[in-house]
Amino acid sequence: MCGIVGYIGKRDVAPLLLEGLQRLEYRGYDSAGIAVTGPKASGLKTVKAKGRVRDLEARVPSRFKGTTGIAHTRWATHGAPSDENAHPHLSQDEKVAVVHNGIIDNASELRAKLTADGVEFLSETDTEVLTHLIARSQADTLEEKVREALRHIEGTYGIAVLHADFNDRIVVARNGSPVVLGIGEKEMFVASDVAALVSHTRQVVTLDDGEMATIKADDYRTYTTEGSRTTASPTTVEWEAESYDMGGHDTYMHKEIFEQPDAVDRVLRGRIDDRFSTVHLGGLNLDAHDARKVRRVKILGCGTSYHAGMIGAQMIEELARIPADAEPASEFRYRNAVVDPDTLYVAVSQSGETYDVLAAVQELKRKGARVLGVVNVVGSAIAREADAGVYVHAGPEVCVVSTKCFTNTTVAFALLALHLGRIRDLSAADGKRIIEGLRMLPGQIAEILKREDEIKKIAKSYADARSMLFIGRVRGYPVAREASLKLKEVSYIHAEAYPASELKHGPLALIEPALPTVAIVPDDDLLEKNRAALEEIKARSGKILAVAHQEQEKADETIVVPKNENELDPILMGIPLQLLAYHTALALGRDIDKPRNLAKSVTVE
Ligand code: M6R
Repeated sequence: MCGIVGYIGKRDVAPLLLEGLQRLEYRGYDSAGIAVTGPKASGLKTVKAKGRVRDLEARVPSRFKGTTGIAHTRWATHGAPSDENAHPHLSQDEKVAVVHNGIIDNASELRAKLTADGVEFLSETDTEVLTHLIARSQADTLEEKVREALRHIEGTYGIAVLHADFNDRIVVARNGSPVVLGIGEKEMFVASDVAALVSHTRQVVTLDDGEMATIKADDYRTYTTEGSRTTASPTTVEWEAESYDMGGHDTYMHKEIFEQPDAVDRVLRGRIDDRFSTVHLGGLNLDAHDARKVRRVKILGCGTSYHAGMIGAQMIEELARIPADAEPASEFRYRNAVVDPDTLYVAVSQSGETYDVLAAVQELKRKGARVLGVVNVVGSAIAREADAGVYVHAGPEVCVVSTKCFTNTTVAFALLALHLGRIRDLSAADGKRIIEGLRMLPGQIAEILKREDEIKKIAKSYADARSMLFIGRVRGYPVAREASLKLKEVSYIHAEAYPASELKHGPLALIEPALPTVAIVPDDDLLEKNRAALEEIKARSGKILAVAHQEQEKADETIVVPKNENELDPILMGIPLQLLAYHTALALGRDIDKPRNLAKSVTVE
């Protein structure tokens, strides 16, 4: 979704901002813009462009000098992608420039009032109302002008504001959309995502909702939108700037798929306790007494994180024998769910910023529930809002399509399930068995990745399919769901996932040679049932690709994956299908890292 970058210091600001915008490109956007000023500048200079950051860069004149500036990548919500609708938005006197992430819910009402007062709007955006409100404020300071304007706003925002009469500062504010300050040596940065900052500084301050900040070249202060001072101590970002580079791969998706052995190693590191055949999860804040009182686990997430949650729910039921299920957070938040004091709620998110998940967490907390976060981005909104949590340590995931974070999240769930299980009725012998299985994962993933050429060949043979069916039973079903999502997101081939057990209840009608089926066939207690499903498909001349622990006679092709413990098999079985989606998309010439219409973090409704 939209991205913000800002800088104040001594350096030439335009190249810095353009570089920051490039680092945010992965979030998805359709236009970009930049505004600069500086102590020697008279007024603000702005350039905007529909399209890519490189289109914006091409328009920036060589004499576009300044040492203070804000920039933005926009994902259209109010108004089509266009030069006019791109941010920053300028006030009529061209003294105020605003970049904004989020949505102003009462924008039409405010627009009508401002228009009646004679304001001429230059764009169709909701953001422009904020620019005019700030410009019309009679307050003496920029901070007070922004504060006054925000009092009229209903909705979500992360904003950065420049004012030609106060060009020694940038004022920022946050409500529901991330804002991070980056502290440098006599220079300060601001961004909506640390990705834009880490090549300059790893010292950051993350604003809370309802917080504002003034940044100057050598100083910053934070305060609430009501004006009371807050204390925000800087933290150090763990992720290196290089983690955001492509590292010799052609796409981030490829890089991130191949990072999985190391990423899984990281999520396990320092957490295994061989003595008691369990794991330590530092941030869990759930002692044995409380853990024994949990009667249900409800996992909430969206998209891929929801699928990781489905796998997690099964692991928790199997290992801890606690009833558990997963539900899309986007549905849960709208259905006035019964919130039960004995249920442990778990919010799952790679970015930690997904609005639907955050809103579900806030609603749960309002009703007094206990919420754990299973999150990748340290210090993100969901991680902060949750009572406690488990970080998944996948490292930065840049490709819009999630791969390594999915895998690490399923491993994090295995750790949580083992922890809860060992507090309850899981034997030490079973705990040891699971630990041995966990330790095998990085090596087994590396083994699967070595089969890339074989999977690439298979992918080419499926690239002309118009639709594909993915099936799996019990442990295999969430794997099928995730594999089908991967394929459609990145290749745009229609794909549908079904429980293999449901074939006869409808989808069998679709089977014909032109509809290939991808079947998840683990060597577990349901192997024969799964084989029966393959027979049914074959009998109707359906083409089958199996992902299994041994060659499947009824399948046209089988990708054989290494066997782990039954409970952990789902972690591995999706990995060849990430490569299948990748190579199918490559064969079709898709924009792999930035699939059409999608954004990396969906921070709005
Ligand atoms: O950052 P989150 O994990 O909360 O994101 C949730 C979904 O938007 C995300 O998983 C989406 O489905 C991805 N495009 C999956 O590849």
